[in-house]
Amino acid sequence: MVKVGIISGSLRKESLSKKIGENVAQYFPEGYEAEFIDIGNLPMYNEDIDNETSSPAEYTAFRSTLKGMDAILFITPEYNRSMPGALKNAIDVGSRPYGQSSWEGKPAAIISQSMGNLSGFGANHHLRQCLVFLNMPILQQPEAYIANSGSLFDDNGKIKDQGTVQFLQGFVNAFVDLINRYNR
Ligand code: FNR
Repeated sequence: MVKVGIISGSLRKESLSKKIGENVAQYFPEGYEAEFIDIGNLPMYNEDIDNETSSPAEYTAFRSTLKGMDAILFITPEYNRSMPGALKNAIDVGSRPYGQSSWEGKPAAIISQSMGNLSGFGANHHLRQCLVFLNMPILQQPEAYIANSGSLFDDNGKIKDQGTVQFLQGFVNAFVDLINRYNR
């Protein structure tokens, strides 16, 4: 089974990023398992509490969960033209201890979304910059910028526009190709 971790940049319960993730998780083929990884419980990164002698239990658990994943899918809103602080914190926590990054070499893909027309371009590309440094092969095409995310879903939380469903299915197919290139 190929394991794909889904990380939402938004922590809120009714997050549209999470709803997109719940839909997209269903688009992976047989032999793939997509599951959410929680980042909301991670204390703000601080080297004083993360060193050779001890680390917060939340950091250790998060790193071990990441290490068990074959690939990571990020779905994020934009906060002030960048990624939310909680997501950047998770990136930082996973990147340490120095030389033992839990992100190392894992294929990744990014979906950004916004309730307006801008689609989280700034968040998407700031996140992309971090993943390049972390040596994660990132899906380049298609890029996924989802606009007007507030009107994306029907009453059951399913994406109702068939064009968007098809686009995201194609996005997942391309991501699966990338994962296969690195994992097999
Ligand atoms: C936002 N929002 C936002 N939207 C955007 O397109 N560009 C931006 O720079 C910002 N900045 C911003 C800052 C903060 C602190 C908040 C709380 C919100 C709006 C936000 O991206 C939008 O509501 C998302 O759809 C929320 O995502 P979730 O929580 O539904 O996943």
